[in-house]
Amino acid sequence: MKIKFLGHAAVMLTTDSEILIDPFMTNNPLCDLSPSSVEPDAIILTHGHGDHIGDTIEIARRTGCAVYAMAELSRYLNSQGVKTHGFNSGGSFVINNSKIKVVQAIHSSSCPDGSYGGLACGFIVEYKEKTFYHAGDTDLFTDMKLIGENHSIDVAMLPIGGNYTMDASDAAKAARLLSPGLCIPMHYNTFPLVKCDPDVFCSLINASGVECKILAPGESIII
Ligand code: NI
Ligand code: MN
Repeated sequence: MKIKFLGHAAVMLTTDSEILIDPFMTNNPLCDLSPSSVEPDAIILTHGHGDHIGDTIEIARRTGCAVYAMAELSRYLNSQGVKTHGFNSGGSFVINNSKIKVVQAIHSSSCPDGSYGGLACGFIVEYKEKTFYHAGDTDLFTDMKLIGENHSIDVAMLPIGGNYTMDASDAAKAARLLSPGLCIPMHYNTFPLVKCDPDVFCSLINASGVECKILAPGESIII
């Protein structure tokens, strides 16, 4: 599995398919990719906020790829001429040998027109004995311990920027609960309100024995 960080919470996962998570590109100051340059097989969304749904509609209309999203958000996207697959928290689905489980996130959500978007979520992606956790936008919650026990997480991507999500200090507590092989920080330094030094997060989790890797936008790792 290749995990390519695109800045903020956007990720391109390469398994047997190219799976794009939260493709926020056009208005993302950290991302220099254009939505016309990607050819995903599927898009999966953690929630409907603009910095996550991003360029989803444009990409999905052009490529014809399916968008996997919470049931209510999925219905909205379908009304916009996009092929969709609706899910809800606790559910799982398979995209070409990648098993994706929907887990809770403590956060709000809405559709771009302001209508109800259902719950916000995170994803556990399992492919060829490797497990990747994308937490979405979330506060710290103790059931992260259960997520860590139920899945042997190789890489966890956690928001650290504060204001809209947990901050570096709470994200370090999340890392201890999840106990992943490696943590990658996300959702920071995109805007002034999420300004944060990722080295602070790294030193906090290193002190408790969890590895940290800061990925610059465009950088990737293979697990
Ligand atoms: Ni959000
Ligand atoms: Mn966000």
